[in-house]
Amino acid sequence: MNDTISKAALNFSDKTPAVDLPVYGGTIGPDAIDMRSLYSQSGKLSYDPGFMATASCHSAISYIDGEKGELLYRGYPIEQLATTCDYMDTCFLLLKGELPTAEEKTEFEKNVADNAMVHEQMQFFFRGFRRDAHPMSILVAIVGALSSFYHDSLDINDPAHREMAAQRLLAHMPTLVAMSYKYSIGQPFVYPRKDLYYTANFMRMMFSTPAEDYKINDVLVRALDRILILHADHEQNASTTTVRLAGSSGANPFACVSAGIACLWGPAHGGANEAALNMIKSIGSVDNVADFVKSVKDPENQSRLMGFGHRVYKNIDPRATLMRETCHEVLNELGLNNDPMFKIALEIERVALEDDYFVSRQLYPNVDFYSGIVQSALGMPTNFFTGIFALARTVGWIAQWKEMISDPEQRIGRPRQLYVGEPRRDVPPRGK
Ligand code: CMC
Repeated sequence: MNDTISKAALNFSDKTPAVDLPVYGGTIGPDAIDMRSLYSQSGKLSYDPGFMATASCHSAISYIDGEKGELLYRGYPIEQLATTCDYMDTCFLLLKGELPTAEEKTEFEKNVADNAMVHEQMQFFFRGFRRDAHPMSILVAIVGALSSFYHDSLDINDPAHREMAAQRLLAHMPTLVAMSYKYSIGQPFVYPRKDLYYTANFMRMMFSTPAEDYKINDVLVRALDRILILHADHEQNASTTTVRLAGSSGANPFACVSAGIACLWGPAHGGANEAALNMIKSIGSVDNVADFVKSVKDPENQSRLMGFGHRVYKNIDPRATLMRETCHEVLNELGLNNDPMFKIALEIERVALEDDYFVSRQLYPNVDFYSGIVQSALGMPTNFFTGIFALARTVGWIAQWKEMISDPEQRIGRPRQLYVGEPRRDVPPRGK
């Protein structure tokens, strides 16, 4: 499956004989040295905490050029998808490899809508949580619990089961996120409606009450849809790697996605959108921006400029540019052009991009810098931002999980270590 384009010779300064390793070329992007025979040839391991220079798999789903600031889904630039396609097109593309025809899209949307209702028993599961539980803690549990509701789609070796589980996850996530919200504010759950588009249906489930139906606003639906498109996949990020690692042991997809949600929760990953908005709120005014930016540069200070920096992007995150545009559109639609949060965000961006600390470390705004402001304007509570990221990323996790399961090279993910503990020693005599 991998094309060997050259060989790498690894020489050691001790008596270990040189090792020849194949080098593979992808369609675009860096080549990769196949390290799998390193241990059998040399008795040595590769050491790469944080996977700084490790390709953990081959994948055909999404691609990032961090230097250029480019993101492709199945080869299509994110800017084109975000302006000409909707989230359902994007889901079909990620899962199936091509954009849907009109008929394929109708069928796909129908399947998703048909599966949007969750098992009625699930509402009792929700009721076990405290009302003030963080939505991500609920989602971790509730998505993992789907495996105890759907025994008929747990055989990962059966393609029909895999398909059914994938559809259920994609279709159930908006319902589950909305149920978490309704539970947290003490309102009745709102059932999905089949006649509404995926994102409009989600907003209705979030904001309708029995007393007042939610009025769907196309500009706002489009804004949330764009958030979903921009967050749908991002090659081998931490949560996707978690999903793949969990899946590599043969765990069922509901359990794997639950593991992905747990990983996404962290502030260095998906939790950054919540953290970025809280940071902007705590800065309070444009006048305080310079001092705040100064404080995050202090090596003694553990805090970071949330929504800035990325392991792969060493240029502006293309999703941040699109998100900034959406931010303008939403604030304009809602008559919030003078939104103080947006002003603070623009000032942070201006100050940081002129500051040598950020420029020299290639720290630019990432998608989470603006997505919190947009979500807040849409009426999403701050502690639900990461839940919406999870909703958007579910399709990417499923696509990556499916790709992994059908990859003949797939093996259980089992890294080794450089052991630095005590060498072998005997237990000393113990007093009785
Ligand atoms: N604010 C201040 N300094 C930073 C920041 C930041 N946001 N990010 C990195 N640095 C500094 C860091 O202190 C280090 O400096 P030095 O070389 O002096 O020690 C240098 O830049 C390299 O940082 P790193 O931690 O080695 O970089 P990393 O690739 O391991 O971390 C990151 C990437 C995204 C975790 C990090 O940039 C970060 O914590 N950013 C803030 C959180 C955030 O916005 N996360 C969302 C990422 S995008 C959404 C997603 O994909 O989940």
